[in-house]
Amino acid sequence: MRKLIAAAGALALGLTMTACSQASDAGKDGGDAAGSASQVGVVTWWEQGSEKEGFDALKKVFAEQHPDVELVKQSESGGGGSNAKQKLAADLAAKNPPDTYQAHAGAELSSDIAAGYLEDVSALYDEFKLRDAFPADLIDLLTVDGKIYSIPSNIHRANVVWANVEVMQKAGLDPKAPPKDIKGWIADMEKLKAAGVKYPITVGATWTQLELLETVLISDLGTDAYNGLMNGKTDWKGAEVKAALEDYAKILTYADPSLLSEDWEPAMKPVIEGKSAYNVMGDWAPPAWENAKMTWGKDYVTFPVPGNEGVFDFLADSFTLPVGAKHPDGTKAWLNTISSKEGQIAFNSVKGSIPARSDLTDDELSKFSDYQRSAMESFGKDTIVSSIAHGAALPLAATEKMKSALGKFNSSKDVAALQSELAAAAAAK
Ligand code: BGC
Repeated sequence: MRKLIAAAGALALGLTMTACSQASDAGKDGGDAAGSASQVGVVTWWEQGSEKEGFDALKKVFAEQHPDVELVKQSESGGGGSNAKQKLAADLAAKNPPDTYQAHAGAELSSDIAAGYLEDVSALYDEFKLRDAFPADLIDLLTVDGKIYSIPSNIHRANVVWANVEVMQKAGLDPKAPPKDIKGWIADMEKLKAAGVKYPITVGATWTQLELLETVLISDLGTDAYNGLMNGKTDWKGAEVKAALEDYAKILTYADPSLLSEDWEPAMKPVIEGKSAYNVMGDWAPPAWENAKMTWGKDYVTFPVPGNEGVFDFLADSFTLPVGAKHPDGTKAWLNTISSKEGQIAFNSVKGSIPARSDLTDDELSKFSDYQRSAMESFGKDTIVSSIAHGAALPLAATEKMKSALGKFNSSKDVAALQSELAAAAAAK
């Protein structure tokens, strides 16, 4: 965690975030002082599968801790917040903010902070005794000019390959000995194809493509040059990025094109079902495997994207207190629950993430799965870099433009055009 700032803090929290929501049943009272604690409207995209289960677990703890506050979920499904961000941007601009909204820690919140949409919640860090509960570097990542604008609920890892053991073995591949770099991985995909696996890898919608691409960049460039892409020290137009984009383009030739507009769960499904070998996804995925009765280490394995060994591609979810929220006391109650030990244990043990709090006892940690304990270990010792696809590394305007460049690439297959569009996107604020 101490390396987080080196990786992500250097990215100058400049601008941008257009997070999200689709009101299903927003708060209806005027939010006067008396009603301020009566409810909390929570904007989130945790609407399906493990994400919904995680939210429900949080909701349960919230009801125990704050029985007088009604929780009104305002959600829009779509992994990574892909469908949810437009409405929130419009609501914030129209001065019709929700009581709280989900946002990634890091650069993604920068434009909302710059626009004055968010309250400084640093006093709550004192009130809830959070300053020592969270790793100092995570707090630094959330701090802008001495103020803190959100409270984290969890930490995820983005650079994970989820692999079907039986499919790998079909091609004579050892699931316990993944290749060391992208070229080796491509060679394995070729072997899978030769063994009759039509689509060795699956890739979903553009946010999942961006997640795959960032891991290829990490492998091919190394972590210093990857971080350099965010702070201007590495040239997006340079030869090493071009070579990485060619690897990315090659990997896509092994993927089923019909899945390129699907969300992460349908895109991962063929791997769970034994039709494809690999999918690159964040570690919100374990419940999807467990629900299919697949056991980690036996039926499926996980490993860092080849060439990402020793690198933890980091992201964290957090919640905010918007300026003008109708129920600020309800929001405070929510921020209290999501940051409490009970809330973080209940939520993260279901969702696949690891707690953002670093003060859990061994007994409390024993509630987590083997996969999660391995992620905690990696988080403690790996080099940490920030995810582009999940808002830690670049302002939202940049990631959105990168996603549309990748979408265009799916039909054009023009690596040179992709490279210049990514270079232009990276500068967006
Ligand atoms: C969020 C995760 C979520 C994932 C898929 C990420 O951006 O940080 O909490 O599970 O998207 O929706």
